[in-house]
Amino acid sequence: MADIQPATATPASLQAPAEPAVIRRADYRPPDWWVKTVALEFDLDLSATQVSATLQIERNGDHDRPLRLDCDGALPGAISVDGVAANWRHEGDEIAVDVSAPRATVHLTTTIAPDTNTQLMGLFASNGMLCTQCEAEGFRRIIPFVDRPDNMAVYEVLLRADKARFPVLLANGALVDSGDLPDGRHYARWHDPHPKPSYLFALVAGDLVATRDQFTTMSGAPVELAIYVREGDEGRTAHAMQALKASMAWDEKVYGLEYDLPVFNIVAVSDFNMGAMENKGLNIFNSRYILADPDTATDYDYDAIEGVVAHEYFHNWSGNRVTCRDWFQLSLKEGFTVYRDQCFSADMGSESVKRIEDVRMLRATQFPEDAGPLAHPIRPDSYMEISNFYTSTIYNKGAEVIRMMATMAGPERFRAGSDLYFARHDGEAATCEQFVRAMEDGAGLDLGQFRRWYEQAGTPQVQARLEHDADSATATLHLRQQFSPTPGQQDKPLMPIPLRTALIDRDMKAHRGEQLVMLSEAEQSVTFTGFARPPVLSINRGFSAPVTMDVARRSGDLLFLVRHDDDPFARYEALQQLVIDRLIADIGEEGAAAERAAALEDILSVFGDLVSDQRLDDSMRTEILSLPTEAFLGEQMLIVRPEAIHDARRALRKAIGTRLIDQWRIVHERASAVPYSLSREARGARKIKSLALGYIASAEAADAATIAFGQFAQADNMTDRQGATMVLASMACDERETALDSFYNRYQGNALVIDKWFSLQTGSTHPHVYEQTLELIRHKDFTLTNPNRVRALYWPFVSNQAAFHHASGRGYELLTDVILRLDPINPQTTARFIAPLGRWRRFDETRAAKMRGCLERILAQPGLSKDTTEQVVKSLE
Ligand code: BES
Ligand code: ZN
Repeated sequence: MADIQPATATPASLQAPAEPAVIRRADYRPPDWWVKTVALEFDLDLSATQVSATLQIERNGDHDRPLRLDCDGALPGAISVDGVAANWRHEGDEIAVDVSAPRATVHLTTTIAPDTNTQLMGLFASNGMLCTQCEAEGFRRIIPFVDRPDNMAVYEVLLRADKARFPVLLANGALVDSGDLPDGRHYARWHDPHPKPSYLFALVAGDLVATRDQFTTMSGAPVELAIYVREGDEGRTAHAMQALKASMAWDEKVYGLEYDLPVFNIVAVSDFNMGAMENKGLNIFNSRYILADPDTATDYDYDAIEGVVAHEYFHNWSGNRVTCRDWFQLSLKEGFTVYRDQCFSADMGSESVKRIEDVRMLRATQFPEDAGPLAHPIRPDSYMEISNFYTSTIYNKGAEVIRMMATMAGPERFRAGSDLYFARHDGEAATCEQFVRAMEDGAGLDLGQFRRWYEQAGTPQVQARLEHDADSATATLHLRQQFSPTPGQQDKPLMPIPLRTALIDRDMKAHRGEQLVMLSEAEQSVTFTGFARPPVLSINRGFSAPVTMDVARRSGDLLFLVRHDDDPFARYEALQQLVIDRLIADIGEEGAAAERAAALEDILSVFGDLVSDQRLDDSMRTEILSLPTEAFLGEQMLIVRPEAIHDARRALRKAIGTRLIDQWRIVHERASAVPYSLSREARGARKIKSLALGYIASAEAADAATIAFGQFAQADNMTDRQGATMVLASMACDERETALDSFYNRYQGNALVIDKWFSLQTGSTHPHVYEQTLELIRHKDFTLTNPNRVRALYWPFVSNQAAFHHASGRGYELLTDVILRLDPINPQTTARFIAPLGRWRRFDETRAAKMRGCLERILAQPGLSKDTTEQVVKSLE
């Protein structure tokens, strides 16, 4: 074959793409050269920004290898070393520069075009302003650089720009100098004294207005706070500012960690791939996580803003002061910081509601990931494109792993562990292993076996059974752990699983104290004495371990727990389980009809009690009385049956709505009488109000549309307006169109609210949701260049199990079409849409074949990005 030449060579663009190279954790070695200081000068312009960089470099060890700089797009004009034109070459995605001295000054320049940067990585334009996103590997799109997190350098940044177009010029650290230049230009010089990796570099230039405030740290240092937004948005920053100050105070109180610069700036931008970014002293946010007022943001949005502001602020220590040695350690900063923001939000609001929300999120996103083709440990062993590893596993399971350590240590010892971690590694690029070691030493834990949580993918399955012996008055808890294989991991070692457990006396309806049972063997039994009668088992309370539980129970036990467990999470869990058991039985038509009818009676009676249970606040009441999503029910089945799930769930909703219709009406009226405020009571009232409305609609009450439209028309806040529109969007009635039109007209021009308008429709259970989605794709306000808008339209549709998994496969085709159109524009956002198609193994043969067909169609696209290729290849394996 080798001597046969094709008549015409295949053009490069038509050749099958080579699979991207695999990067392995085991291959880590420090860079050959360190960059110690960076002086950057920017002549900012939307279409041609000139960058000049002066780097002080230092050879690392004894070798004669060249300086290697990562390069992506921004090709250097000229490079000099110690003032002399350098010998350099472009090798793949690197620039190799010959340097003979052990230390040198390297100078290089680039020219970049922010206004054509649709990937939104590196320096890009958004609504006439300029800003950066460098994590994980965006800095190399600005200048060639040792663009890896273990290279920490001190940065000085000089920005020059037209003063009228870019009156505000920001970078990391503190402003050291600024002034006017000829020709209507001006400059600002910023200095950040803290050595940092390049992914934390940021600049912003634009016509922005600031909301300002101040914070005094616990040692008395003043900090100037500012939130920069576009003119007209300044009335929507108060909540974010409040959250920032609360976060700063919380980190001092709970972790003893203080802010370390005289300024803290936040900028909101409307074109952003992610939620927000923790650049040192200059956090950049997706505007949806900053802007809020009662008329445009829901209570849920308010909470999300509080949580994201806190998250990015907390990174100042867990991420910036102590950063990651390499990207395999990502969970070191993300898992820990998510855990920190979860605890913060719990302290600001309701601990139990926050826990339920976090577990629901973990189950909805991380469990499916861990059970599918993209499963990976929280510290992965390899990747092709690091952007694909900002996953629910790294973030949410990572947070659960930290939480388990906190549970095992208790609050004081956990704090001692975290103190030791920050003291040992401040100013360093650290590893997960170093975190675990600091926890062992500081908290006095033996985490030998626990390290497996970092190594092993997949959700452990735990079986539990309580055996009672009347003669010895003992109760014995039998536990077993099991694992399913995940890609590349067939046999799995045993994990230590901390299970908060209580045995509840059936008559006293109380327990004698909770115990932490550590399950570390394949099978293990624990005996409890002093139980003349068989108690009721309450296990994995507070969701102390991220596992699935299969508990053998006597009939009536779940109902008992719903009524009497003192752990709010366990109560929630018991009712969810009751509902899931019943729905799964319905879907599979399992069990005798009479049995299923009895189970329904149990559910209806306990729902009836809980609707008016005085011990519950309305927020918790809403959580408990919400049914599991169709997608979550699908997760419980070996082969997902979308139509059967949809029908069974709808029938149960209808039964609950119909049987309790009077109570739902009373709740809706009671809650509607509570005036708008951000108090806990008022927020709880709004939450239960829309839940009640949903059940009234599910009951198909004749006046449901009138009540819903009433809530819509009378709403003086977005929570009520959105809640009513959501209910109406799923109904076939005139009020639906009226509400949607009026919603649109009222908020035309407010991108964040128009996003909601798209989502409300594509996420609805309306029988014509597919046709409506097609129409929305053609709507004049739909665009592929804004990630928020793309997600607003497509995510709810894809999460809409009945619509996306329509038997015809048209849902899959709709998604595939956008993937192919979006990939050349924004690969990072595109790659996130592959996972839903990658779940084909969980569907019947016909659907599975259609889903695979779509994945193959995507893979066949010439020039497919590395991001998307990796996800598709892994999904087809
Ligand atoms: N460091 C990330 C932002 C990021 C993510 C940069 C992915 C590059 C790639 C930031 O701290 C973060 O985690 N943001 C989250 C929100 C957070 C509250 C979990 C996000 O953007 O979704
Ligand atoms: Zn983060």
